Amino acid sequence: MSDGATDATGGTGATGGTGATEVGVPAYPVASFDDPHLLPLAKNPRRAEAVVAVFLVLGILGVAAYGALYWVGGQTQWEGVFLGGGLFCIGFGLSAWGKYLLPQGPFVEQRHPMASPEEDRKAMTSAIVDRGGIVVKRRGFLGGLLGAGMGIFGVVAAFPLIRSLGPVPGKTLDRTNWRAGSRLVDFTGRPVSVHDLEVGGALTVFPEGYLDSEQDQAMDQTMLIRAGSADIVTRPGRETWGPEGYLAFSKVCTHAGCPVGLYEEQTQQLLCPCHQSLFDVLDGAVPVFGPAPRPLPQLPLVVDADGWLRAQSGYDQPVGPGFWERS
Ligand code: FES
Repeated sequence: MSDGATDATGGTGATGGTGATEVGVPAYPVASFDDPHLLPLAKNPRRAEAVVAVFLVLGILGVAAYGALYWVGGQTQWEGVFLGGGLFCIGFGLSAWGKYLLPQGPFVEQRHPMASPEEDRKAMTSAIVDRGGIVVKRRGFLGGLLGAGMGIFGVVAAFPLIRSLGPVPGKTLDRTNWRAGSRLVDFTGRPVSVHDLEVGGALTVFPEGYLDSEQDQAMDQTMLIRAGSADIVTRPGRETWGPEGYLAFSKVCTHAGCPVGLYEEQTQQLLCPCHQSLFDVLDGAVPVFGPAPRPLPQLPLVVDADGWLRAQSGYDQPVGPGFWERS
């Protein structure tokens, strides 16, 4: 009994024996750049590092050039060249980094029919770890370049969010420039008389005095239709809105804002060419087909003493897609 207990204790002591290596002498063989397991380029890490650095720098310059060109107004083809070239270089640098500067497998150990001695296995483990230490160390420079490349790409990728969405519409769509008494004019500024359109005719009109601004024109554009020769009532409460067969509806589609510019006389419908919404002219321009969710706002018209067409008032609701009127 006493001897057995002594043997067990002695086994623990033997483990301590592996730490009996002399101070300053490696316990296992150290890997070198001549290690046959390393790829040829990995034996020249400085050259590989230089190649990776060059491509990362080229990538940064390419993405930066794309961002600068985009910011000053853009040119589609060169933007594509710079962005594509920049991303290619960053990708190439990353691939080369992984291929030539990181430990590569497979690591082959010639196995013996019997299990290797403990000492050999520890030596192999040490060699792999040490080989990784050779090729992985001192990559702060490349890491910095990679971070810069990713950073500048992130900044450039955010450009569309801060520049390409255009101005916030705010309250500008709540009111147009149509007022009580506004005279209807065509896109040249010529006033529209009650005699200008034949039955079945259509014309895009604007309020007089507001043709200078494209934004104003975008909001104010109105489709004037002569749907008949007598007064037309499209809805209860609109008894005076359609004098002598003239009807006027906002030209801004209530689906996504395209110009509703096609008038079909035979069916008395307005067609939006973007997604084929159809609006029934004689029924207050309610949508009868397509994705438009609500009628086109109607502009009340009146013929003045000189025969000019004028607005009785502005639109009684916001023009354009329905979501713009939500708070
Ligand atoms: S914008 Fe008119 S149907 Fe879509």
